[in-house]
Amino acid sequence: MSDAQNPRKSSVIVALDVPQAADIEPLVKKIPCEIEWYKVGLELFISEGHKAIQILTDMGKQIFLDLKLHDIPRTVERAVHTASAHNVGLLTVHASGGPAMLRAAAEAAQACDNPPLVVAVTALTSLDQSDLTALGVSRDLKEHARALGRLAIDSGIDGLVCSPHEAAALRGDLGSDPILVTPGIRMPEGDVGDQKRVATPADAVAAGSDFLVVGRPIVQANNPEQAAAKILKQMNETP
Ligand code: C5P
Repeated sequence: MSDAQNPRKSSVIVALDVPQAADIEPLVKKIPCEIEWYKVGLELFISEGHKAIQILTDMGKQIFLDLKLHDIPRTVERAVHTASAHNVGLLTVHASGGPAMLRAAAEAAQACDNPPLVVAVTALTSLDQSDLTALGVSRDLKEHARALGRLAIDSGIDGLVCSPHEAAALRGDLGSDPILVTPGIRMPEGDVGDQKRVATPADAVAAGSDFLVVGRPIVQANNPEQAAAKILKQMNETP
């Protein structure tokens, strides 16, 4: 199917879970240029964030800045504004920051010359029901995540970070507009590592994911180019 027939073609974001900016260029050069998006997370950002962003920008790549912002509305608004000046295309906030913070993030993004897409993390996948109880949240974990997802979208946020296993249900709840970003992607023969609820690239695409975040299956592969090409092939073959 051509891109014109399939405007919601899913993309891979490679998670640059590396400690230093010097690791970026050699790695990115091994990955098919068809992959445009790279994730800079907390470790890399805290160690050498600006350098990392500059290297990716110079290589013509798109940046997913995954800092999961969670602060008072004014602080988040300024952080979103600043990120947009650094060529960030996609960034994360915590839905639990509340409606005013979410609106501030969405409005700050929309006011930018090159508006970044803002996506919200609902409930961290590391939390279980007993953690919610410890936090004073009595509702069921799934209900909690769905309610936070609805809150984020109603507050003007562009989309959500979710497990591929939740993507289809969120599409049902929220319709086709929200962008869904899904980590936890593994090839059928791949090593699961510490991920508990994984899905194949084909399953994630079929569930309605727009961006598949892939780290170790590409970054730690003996041949990252081949590993990435296999993932892209499976995605392209998914109707
Ligand atoms: O190496 P792997 O493919 O598991 O990496 C997935 C990336 O997605 C990592 O950068 C990880 O921090 C991130 N992530 C995740 N699960 C979430 C949210 C983010 O694995 N719920």
